[in-house]
Parts: sequence; structure tokens; C-alpha cells
Amino acid sequence: MYALHNFDKADFLANYWQKKPRVIKQGLVNFVDPLDEHILAGLSQEGEVDSRIIHRLDSRWDVAHGPFIDINQHCVGAWTLLVQSVDQYVPEAEALLRSFDFIPHWRMDDLMVSFSNEGGGVGPHLDQYDVFIVQGKGARRWQVGLPDSYKASRPHPDLGQIEDFTPVIDQVLYPGDIVYIPANHPHNGIATGECLNYSVGFRAPSQQEMLSALADFASDENLLNERYQGQVLAPRDKSAELSQTDTEEFRALLHRAIDSPAFTQWLPRFLSQSLYQDADGSEEELSAAEVEEYFASGQILYRTLGVKPVWVKTSEKDSIEFYVEGQAFSCPHSEDALLNDLLCQPYFDPKERNNSHLSPHFNQLVSTLISSGYWYFE
Ligand code: SIN
Ligand code: CO
Repeated sequence: MYALHNFDKADFLANYWQKKPRVIKQGLVNFVDPLDEHILAGLSQEGEVDSRIIHRLDSRWDVAHGPFIDINQHCVGAWTLLVQSVDQYVPEAEALLRSFDFIPHWRMDDLMVSFSNEGGGVGPHLDQYDVFIVQGKGARRWQVGLPDSYKASRPHPDLGQIEDFTPVIDQVLYPGDIVYIPANHPHNGIATGECLNYSVGFRAPSQQEMLSALADFASDENLLNERYQGQVLAPRDKSAELSQTDTEEFRALLHRAIDSPAFTQWLPRFLSQSLYQDADGSEEELSAAEVEEYFASGQILYRTLGVKPVWVKTSEKDSIEFYVEGQAFSCPHSEDALLNDLLCQPYFDPKERNNSHLSPHFNQLVSTLISSGYWYFE
């Protein structure tokens, strides 16, 4: 439904990704908004949805957090309503996110959607994540600068901004235009009238986050049990001293943890955890034979919104392993092509493969995925 145009993916990744900001004029030609401000406002009233309204009135900034009962109460002065993870709620929004699938989806975080009135914006700021911002209906002036040591300001406890920056991009974007902003590049978007923006945000997990998740996994699975031994020990006359050799022995112990098979087991589980809330197990329990019947009758299998499976291909094992929300699944190598379709596309239709006969093993796998709530027949 959405496809990138006027855009050379290889050139972008080689010359701009993580390096330079860039505007892609009409990156999405004839752009149709995947939702409108009324749907966005409706989402911001839901308890499980993360939303904010940032407004500025007489140069005073204010931030209100959803869920909102009376949204109009906060829409004063110049304001922006921002809603996170809209791809988990609106299929068309997920389709927009999918048009950026030339970057692995385990690098993607979510689609954040904002609606602003004239003059609305969140002020000049830095983000720690790369982002593509797609202009939806209306228009917005985007200014983007280069990394530097900018003076931070906090006009409200929940709003981090920076003081001025010199833009290297200063353009008004119209529907279908895209601006790419690498992490730590200052930017500021000011709506020139009512407008919608779609931010495709990327994940950049920190060492802190990863080490703590790895430690949780190791303790759940009873892995990484090697203990410090301290093999190099000579009589000491300074009993309080921690020598460089001692430090290196501890460092080597932790290096061995990172180099161990436990790390390889943990990483795809960690990267496949993308939902902000647990998928509900399905009410529908289908046997492999019933799955076969559904496919034979022309039914299409859909991936639950927000699910981002991670597939690990290794020739050392006799099956392909994949992970959904941290859970491991496997499938024989003979199903490689089917699995590719299943995991990389938002829906799976055997008719499109000219092959409505699927192996019992594949149908059994589908049945398990349905009962976990990760795929469904409509
Ligand atoms: C927005 O207001 O839609 C974008 C926020 C941002 O600049 O990150
Ligand atoms: Co930003």
C-alpha cells in the first residue's frame, strides 16, 4: 500500500543512515493518511495507549499525559498531540511502517503519530534515536542541524529542549515528503497549519539495557554460571590492592559471558520483544487439520499488529529458529521459503505462492502461532 519513491535505498544507507539528515521530497507519492486526527484523539483516550499533549501559550510550555478524558482542555495555544505505537492499533499505520522494511524490523521501534495546530511543535530538541518523519496532511516547517554541544533547557519537567541551533535543513514539508534525522541531530518542527506527522523511530538499545536483559535471561534459564577464580595469585604485601591483572581476569570472565552460546540464544529473543503489552493468547484454538482447511478455503493468515518476528538462519542446526516476543519456535529448513513469507510479510496467503498445499508441519506451526495470539485468521 505504501512504497518509497524518489529514493535509492543503497545510496541512503551508504551515505546518510546514521550520518547526515536528509529531506526526501515526495518519498511517498500521492500520500494518503493512514488515519485522521479523530482516530488519533480516540486512541489517546485509551488507557493502554501512551499519549501526550504539549502546548505553548504565551511562551509557557505545558505537558499533559494521556489517557485524556477531555482532550480539548489541553488543546490551548499552539499544541501537538503525540501518540506512540500507533502501528500496534491501526493496520494502515503498520502498513506505513512496513514501507521502511529495507531496514530490519528488529531495528524499528514504533510509529509515533502527531497532530498539531498552527504553530504547534515540541520545540527544538535532540533524540537519541534515528527517525524518519513523514509529513501527512497539512504542512510543517522542519529545521534540522548538526550534532554539537547544545545547551539543554527544560521549560517543563517532562520536556527536554535545547537552546538555539543553526539549521542545515530548513524546509516546509508537504504530504508525502519525508525528513530523515539521525540520532543527536537537533531538530524543530513547527506546523504551518493543522497537520499530521508520522515518525518511524528506530531502536538503539544501550549497553545498560542489554546487560540487564541478558542477566535476567541468564537467571531465568540458569545460564552463565562460571565464577571468578583468580588463577594468577602471588603473595601480596598490599592486601587492599586490586591490580591490573586482577581487573583483567574479571573483565575476561565477563567477555566469556558475551562470547558464550547464551548470548547467541538471548539476542534474537531480546530483539523480538516489541509489543508494549502482552499479546493475548487467542480464543481460537485450531488444529493443524483445521488450519489446512482454512487455507484450502482461501482464508488469509494475518500477523498481529506490532509483532516483529526475528528469524535466525544457521546451517549448523537442522531447523530454522525464529522468535516472537521472546518465545522460540522452529521450522525445518525445507519450509524456508514459506517461513520467509510468513515472517516478513504482514499477511500470508498460500494462493499468492501458487501453492495451497502446505505441509502438516507448517500447519502445526501456524496452529501454535495462532494459539499464542501472534497470527490470526480474520
Ligand atoms: C512531532 O511533533 O511529530 C515530532 C516530534 C519530534 O520531533 O520528534
Ligand atoms: Co524529535
